[in-house]
Amino acid sequence: MTMGEKANFHGRKILLGVTGGISVYKSAELVREFIRRGAEVSVVMTENATRFITPLTMESLSRNPVGLDMFSLTDERTMGHIDRAKWADLFIVAPATANYLAKAACGIADDLLTTISLVARCPVAVAPAMNTNMWSHPTVQDNIRTLEERGVKIIPPGEGELACGDKGKGRLADLDIIIKAAQELLYGACDMSGLSVLVTAGPTRESMDPVRFISNPSSGKMGYAIAEAARGRGAVVTLISGPTSLKDPDGIETIRVVTAEEMLAAARDHIEANQWLIMTAAVADYRPVKRSTRKTKKDGKKKITLEMESNPDILMELATAKGDRLYVGFAAESESLEDNARKKLLSKGLDLIVANDITERDSGFEKDENRATLLGREGYVERFPLMSKLELAHRILDHSSVLWRAAAKNG
Ligand code: C5P
Repeated sequence: MTMGEKANFHGRKILLGVTGGISVYKSAELVREFIRRGAEVSVVMTENATRFITPLTMESLSRNPVGLDMFSLTDERTMGHIDRAKWADLFIVAPATANYLAKAACGIADDLLTTISLVARCPVAVAPAMNTNMWSHPTVQDNIRTLEERGVKIIPPGEGELACGDKGKGRLADLDIIIKAAQELLYGACDMSGLSVLVTAGPTRESMDPVRFISNPSSGKMGYAIAEAARGRGAVVTLISGPTSLKDPDGIETIRVVTAEEMLAAARDHIEANQWLIMTAAVADYRPVKRSTRKTKKDGKKKITLEMESNPDILMELATAKGDRLYVGFAAESESLEDNARKKLLSKGLDLIVANDITERDSGFEKDENRATLLGREGYVERFPLMSKLELAHRILDHSSVLWRAAAKNG
């Protein structure tokens, strides 16, 4: 199986720029492949590209409106050029003509695609395709070098018979190679392949009676982002989820639980088979001592007293199973963020802890973004700025992988 075959783009947003060359028909196939692997795809075509293939084809395959014109009110209303560039996790231009490369290298922004090229801040790749003499022309090669120096990933053209009849370098790289490059840009190489990862997510619910419960506002988004990021990097992922409105992620065994005790039981069942445990779940610390089978009546009472007892601490309960496993915990704090998180890191025997300040309004519970600090044993601290939960998930996995590899080397 090739890496391209394994690539999984679930939940990732790919912006595909298409310029006018005979190999445009292959980019239609590329859209299908990205979609088949779970990506959301948005296509932007230059005017010349539309002479080879209709926007309708691209629109049908990508299931999204195609961007064509900077000055079209309809286009700008569906997704403006700035929004389109900011939306993408990956921007890839395939095929990229010599003309596009020249404009991109010089910063010319005279149509939608070249304008987006200046706005996009996500990873960018270009897959050039052109006549072999054009490709080897020093001007084109200079432009390629300029783009490469600026961090653009060049997916070099392949060799063979070209549409114009010439032979040599210039044909669009094979789709498999383009997909592999996209995978590497989005996730780094499949650096977690062969690893099994257990992730917990969401809140737990502790019932008082059939209609009332104690819980917290955790949406599960952070844990699901970690599960999806790990799956994208090649890990086999099991997700134990408390009640959330999120759907089971594709390709991840998802176990639904309600209470802390159920979460502990599921974690116990699965810890042996996993090498990493990432506990993002916001487990309720206490549960009502009594759980009535009938709805408690008001009976005109002005006050009621609810007796609560502590729930098991899942991480503490799983401490004996740790061995060589990597344990990552989360700490939601409203004061002395790093001090409190560090205490938990040590008392719960974790390798890493992700600390969140829950008093910040733009991040944390229910939000799509998070601002977190990563703390490791022996004083490691990394303070991340506000970023999407998926991006933060990747940063956490990046550091976890570093620790994992170091432990394997030393052990
Ligand atoms: O003690 P505190 O709840 O702040 O610790 C947070 C970390 O401990 C999180 O990783 C959370 O998933 C985990 N936890 C647990 N069992 C509990 C409470 C929290 O494993 N009962």
